[in-house]
Amino acid sequence: MKEIRVFETADELSAAAAELFIKTAATAISQRGQFAVALSGGSTPAPVYKLLAEHYRDDLDWNKVFFFFGDERNVPAVSPDSNYRMVNEVLFSALPLNRDSVREWPTFREVPEKIAEDYALEIEFFFQGFPRFDLILLGLGTDCHTASLFPHTQALKENEKVAVANWVEKLNDYRLTITFPVINNAANVMFLVSGKEKVKAVAHVLEGERRPDDFPAQLVEPTSGRLFWLLDIDAAALLKAG
Ligand code: 6PG
Repeated sequence: MKEIRVFETADELSAAAAELFIKTAATAISQRGQFAVALSGGSTPAPVYKLLAEHYRDDLDWNKVFFFFGDERNVPAVSPDSNYRMVNEVLFSALPLNRDSVREWPTFREVPEKIAEDYALEIEFFFQGFPRFDLILLGLGTDCHTASLFPHTQALKENEKVAVANWVEKLNDYRLTITFPVINNAANVMFLVSGKEKVKAVAHVLEGERRPDDFPAQLVEPTSGRLFWLLDIDAAALLKAG
């Protein structure tokens, strides 16, 4: 099931995303006693995290929420580029969390493959098997990457591992990322995309020719979960569908 929602402004998009996050979390907690979410990095979700911290602090039993990251840069947690650092500053530091509520990538390890291997083990241990996240938040790059699944990279072909270190030539570095099998096994997947710089990427992924190696986000097709695209009108401007 794919649902595309278009909002007048990025602020309205963020408000809707925060509301959907809380609703999905409350349902998971009431049905299964916990909510496991993989967060996205980048700039788009930051206002959503801020809203959660400021307006929804009292709306959830945060002790039943377990935060993971869909991807991470190959940098220490103190680096300005770290997704963990951004979310910790905006969200985690404002919530009454237990230490084990947040499961970040162990980027203190030196070798990217080891980081990915250990994080995969942590995810599989948490789920006692192949992970089914209650929610995975995703962004979209102008090159149609999502998480750290970049065009023409090895990770696009990974069908077994839960998490990998993905060499990204154009960044001349590794990126750490969960894989498409994990994303497509989630109960809910939510893309958050805003800004006119994303308009071509959105059109390619949602209405373009099927070219997943060029447009990797086309491979996000949850097997049984719900897929939400939350867009602002700038990012959705080239879409034909009503
Ligand atoms: C990251 C993200 C990445 C991001 C897109 C969009 O680590 O940066 O996981 O996939 O979602 O690059 O980024 P913006 O939201 O900053 O445009």
